[in-house]
Amino acid sequence: MNKLYTVFTLALPLIMFNQCKQGAEESIDVSSPDGAITVTFMVSGGVPYYQVSRSGRDVIKASKLGFAFKDAAPLDRNLAVVGQQQSSFDEIWVQPWGEVKDIRNHYNQLHVQLQETTEVPRNMNLVFRVYDDGVGFRYELPAQDHLGSVQITDEKTEFNLAGDHKAWWIKAYQWNRYEYLYQSSPVSDIDTVHTPLTLETKDGLYLSIHEAALTDYPSMTLARTGSTVLECDLVPWSDGTKVKTKTPFVTPWRTIQIAETAGDLITSYLILNLNEPNKLGDVSWVQPGKYVGIWWGMHIKTYTWESGAKHGATTANAKRYIDFAAEHGFPGVLIEGWNVGWDGDWMANSELFNFTTPYDDFDMQVVSAHAASKGVKIIGHHETSAGIANYERQVDDAFRYYLQNGINTIKTGYVSHGQSIIPVGDTSGAREWHHGQYMVRHYRMIVEKAARNKIMLDVHEPIRPTGIRRTYPNMMTREGARGQEFNTSGEGNPPEHTTILPFTRLLGGPMDFTPGIFDLTFEAANRPDNRVSTTLAKQLALYVVLYSPLQMAADLVENYENQPAFQFIEDVPVDWQDTRVLHAQIGDYLTIARQDRNSANWYIGSITDEQGRTLETQLDFLDADRKYVAEIYADAGDADWETNPLAIDISQALVDRSTTLSIRLAPGGGQAIRIRPATDEEAHSVSPY
Ligand code: NOJ
Ligand code: CA
Repeated sequence: MNKLYTVFTLALPLIMFNQCKQGAEESIDVSSPDGAITVTFMVSGGVPYYQVSRSGRDVIKASKLGFAFKDAAPLDRNLAVVGQQQSSFDEIWVQPWGEVKDIRNHYNQLHVQLQETTEVPRNMNLVFRVYDDGVGFRYELPAQDHLGSVQITDEKTEFNLAGDHKAWWIKAYQWNRYEYLYQSSPVSDIDTVHTPLTLETKDGLYLSIHEAALTDYPSMTLARTGSTVLECDLVPWSDGTKVKTKTPFVTPWRTIQIAETAGDLITSYLILNLNEPNKLGDVSWVQPGKYVGIWWGMHIKTYTWESGAKHGATTANAKRYIDFAAEHGFPGVLIEGWNVGWDGDWMANSELFNFTTPYDDFDMQVVSAHAASKGVKIIGHHETSAGIANYERQVDDAFRYYLQNGINTIKTGYVSHGQSIIPVGDTSGAREWHHGQYMVRHYRMIVEKAARNKIMLDVHEPIRPTGIRRTYPNMMTREGARGQEFNTSGEGNPPEHTTILPFTRLLGGPMDFTPGIFDLTFEAANRPDNRVSTTLAKQLALYVVLYSPLQMAADLVENYENQPAFQFIEDVPVDWQDTRVLHAQIGDYLTIARQDRNSANWYIGSITDEQGRTLETQLDFLDADRKYVAEIYADAGDADWETNPLAIDISQALVDRSTTLSIRLAPGGGQAIRIRPATDEEAHSVSPY
């Protein structure tokens, strides 16, 4: 860890910061290291508020803070500042894996202590961290005589937006959790929505409201309580309470990322910075990688999870996938449907899942020995269909079973209605939400247990990410949005979907989207009613655009045979030294360049919505005085996601840092480019771009 300079703390007398805002008895400012963003904390009439400005313009107008409790008076009034400290922090920390290697964590902090002015006063602290790329703040409720065990019925944090910004949102409290298409509208049209909530202001700022370090607390959704006022709306327990806890405790960080370009939201690491450093020590066992799997076949119905003639997870099929992985350099093979429990209505019969008993036509010993002999790792699967009691009863045995068979990555799944969780031991008929405190605790328990067992996780139907991968680097990737599988039924994902995801859901962290479908129209599967709404080149570009440390080549392996475009998927890495956003317009297009962590190669992914376009792209991130070969996978001139999705041109050209590429994208298209240093011979023989 390279500390640029050490932390210092200034305990200045309060009087120095008493630059009162209008009507406020006390107000304290703290600004970002570059001075552009300022948070003002105020107490006015005993009520605590914060506000945020950037370059003198309001971003968040005066917004209330506080709590309501069951069986106790609210803690949002009659308050006074009794102490405060400001400090600065600056360090560079190294991600064990990630979208960049080095991350600078540089902020100014204000810690304010509040106390009630009542006869039996209670205490509450607020911590604000102000970065160049936004703000994080959290509540601390210290141990105290008059506030012990508490049931929070409301966290009153407001986000009083300075305008009626354009918002990209997903409605909260629905059947399919986060798995919906994004809507966009003025903020004044939204109701209650999930975070990250991304906003574009009329004067060209980009904001995203989310949370960091969600640990033992419900997820935050945002409810609109005034024309452009949002309030924290915590996902409740079945009894209506929001949080069950006791002092001392801290809340997750409430985060507001603030950027001048949409691309700067993507390269803001504020959420990671607000999480605790790696708790696991040596994590060399945590290995990012690509995988294939017995998976897509079930979604397009050429295979089944359940037993029978079309069973996908047979010993023979598993060996075939392992052989393919070994031949093409993929370290992982996901196998779903190998364990009993899938027969009948598996979504309704969660208690039938057994995590250590294979179906008769799947021999785990034979398959795992075959994988070991080929140097390939099986990725295990635990679909729980949200049967938490059944899973928690078996999870120790289930982890042991996988480890005994050489499996140290597990994809978990929690398919069920958003409010269908039966708490362990409950007979009252209570049903908890996927994203309430009960499940936050469950997901965290599994992450910690997996870490103790040196197991990596890929969680489907998860809590959306809040950066805990920094603390638990075995929590690698997750779903928590509409991934590729949504193309196999219903309306599918329209071309613009993947031009919104990186600016919304992925701001929280990596996504297991599962790109790489080559049979885009499901010809082989004979499913004329469904298809993938992209070109082939766009499927390749998604490996660069949608960051995930575990990245699937999702199609049936036979669909990759004799496909020159598959070379890009073989080549593209999943662990990056650096990430640059070259073009970014939310819902329209996006170009990202990433540098491989283990070589001098760069990869570019560029995608568009249903509109074709050409994007001029400078390669000024390349080393000076060096020639490179660009291997270009481009939409052919007549490519179109709807009418001609497979038309792809693969070419090579000599480039250097002075080259400007014209990236031509077909409607619904994309482009993927691998840029590698040229050999001496290539520097003379390959045609310049
Ligand atoms: C939903 C997951 O997202 C998908 O990847 C998985 O195949 C099914 N559940 C079955 O577990
Ligand atoms: Ca899913």
